Amino acid sequence: MSHKRVAILISGGGSNMVALLDSMVGDHPARPCLVLSNDEHAGGLKKAAERGVATAWVDHRPFKGNRTAFEAELIKPILEAKPDIVCLAGFMRVLTGDFVSHFQGRMLNIHPSLLPKYKGLNTHARALEAGDAEHGCSVHEVTAALDDGPILGQARVPVLEEDTPETLAARVLTQEHLLYPAVLRRFAEKNSTPVHLG
Ligand code: GRF
Repeated sequence: MSHKRVAILISGGGSNMVALLDSMVGDHPARPCLVLSNDEHAGGLKKAAERGVATAWVDHRPFKGNRTAFEAELIKPILEAKPDIVCLAGFMRVLTGDFVSHFQGRMLNIHPSLLPKYKGLNTHARALEAGDAEHGCSVHEVTAALDDGPILGQARVPVLEEDTPETLAARVLTQEHLLYPAVLRRFAEKNSTPVHLG
């Protein structure tokens, strides 16, 4: 069987990326081909390299104000790695529609809210401020619009009275680590049934 090739884009510690890497073993239909960051010092790069996965980075800072020029560099290592699927996992740069169109229908993202609620940043604080009884995370197909696109899976957690944005984020992150691998596996198997956890 020829495995699907998966490239993962990160910006930070990469705990979701590690969950994805660790899931792609045994009879899993996919294998990682690249972990790419916009920050040379992203902790996740070291974790990927320790697991024997090819890594690369393209610093976005020299391209300030010129997203197109940044993306022209960012796409090079991705195209070289020839991925079938691209996973954004805590990748904190907004991508243009042009970039996204290269990977239409095969790029996934994880977002820490029950979409369509709370697109963008500070999702945990916003859920608390709204007095929501539950919160969670979503994996969706990436389209040109931010944190939009068909939802492929969601995991729900209760919001507790004593929660702070930090405690709530930690509870959601635990679910992210279950949800993203579950969705990636189904996606790689071409099964479009949404995953529901929690
Ligand atoms: C996660 O909450 C992800 O949903 C978000 O950024 C965080 C990244 O965490 N957008 P990690 O780098 O995967 O540990």
